[in-house]
Amino acid sequence: MSLENKVVVVTGAGFPNGIGAGIARCFANENAKVIITDLKGAPTDETAAAMPGNVKSIIADAASQEAMSEAADKVIEQYGRIDVLVNNAGVGDPQPQVDLPADLLSPTMSDQIWDMQLVSNLRTTFASSIAVAPKMEDGGSIVNIASVAALGPATGLPAYGAAKAGVVHLTKTHAIQFAPRRIRVNCICPGLLWTRAWEMITAIMKENDPSLANVSQREIFEGIDARSTPLGDEQTPEDIGNLAVFYASEKARMITGAVVAVDGGSSV
Ligand SMILES: NC(=O)c1ccc[n+]([C@@H]2O[C@H](COP(=O)([O-])OP(=O)(O)OC[C@H]3O[C@@H](n4cnc5c(N)ncnc54)[C@H](O)[C@@H]3O)[C@@H](O)[C@H]2O)c1
Repeated sequence: MSLENKVVVVTGAGFPNGIGAGIARCFANENAKVIITDLKGAPTDETAAAMPGNVKSIIADAASQEAMSEAADKVIEQYGRIDVLVNNAGVGDPQPQVDLPADLLSPTMSDQIWDMQLVSNLRTTFASSIAVAPKMEDGGSIVNIASVAALGPATGLPAYGAAKAGVVHLTKTHAIQFAPRRIRVNCICPGLLWTRAWEMITAIMKENDPSLANVSQREIFEGIDARSTPLGDEQTPEDIGNLAVFYASEKARMITGAVVAVDGGSSV
């Protein structure tokens, strides 16, 4: 897709089985120069080192304009440019507070947990985009990772769903705001992927539901997938990365403000 020598920043890509790492691998396979970021506590350096291709790592809080501006400066110091930003950071801290998980799946939650969810899943996209976009001097591409939870009611995850709906909305706002600078902004809504996020969710489900005592976390996930995905299969990080690469490529040069679900039909 002619991404050779493009410089790509992927936020929240510190865990090797996460969506961000899969996206980074897809860009690296296209010979892009990739920089993955995450918070302290994620194995970001090790994840970058284990990837084939040109992948480096930086620790930076994607929800902080200052931190992401500094990270962008480091990237430009090393590579001279930034062409692509993938706003993948979300879910929550790499090492969540002990009492966070139970609240995560609750239809009610404290103001504090609400705010943390909004920071992690929405402010990350806003702060990173407005910190990095001014440094994309030759135009570029921003890819926002929302969720199918953005596309309809998310009864068990109200803060997460609202935050991701905000990411969809922000995609359209930034698509218009950044268009004069030839920066395209598009969004992907992943469906169900077996990553740290679902490991956390299924652990909480088991804790709260005695009938799941003898069911493994993976089996719970597979059951949900079978019930909700018309095409049957769970998605892989590379399924998400392939669309991110397409959005970033010249083949998508007239696509901006688009929102596409990669979910095996679960949101149809
Ligand atoms: N797994 C799924 O089924 C699924 C479905 C839809 C959407 N998503 C979205 O995909 C993205 C990746 O999730 P994942 O499933 O790979 O889980 P994950 O937990 O492996 O990835 C999220 C990453 O973001 C990092 N992060 C959180 N806050 C950050 C911050 N402020 N700054 C920098 N990094 C931060 C975490 O440390 C983690 O590495 C998230 O935005 C998530 O909401 C996941």
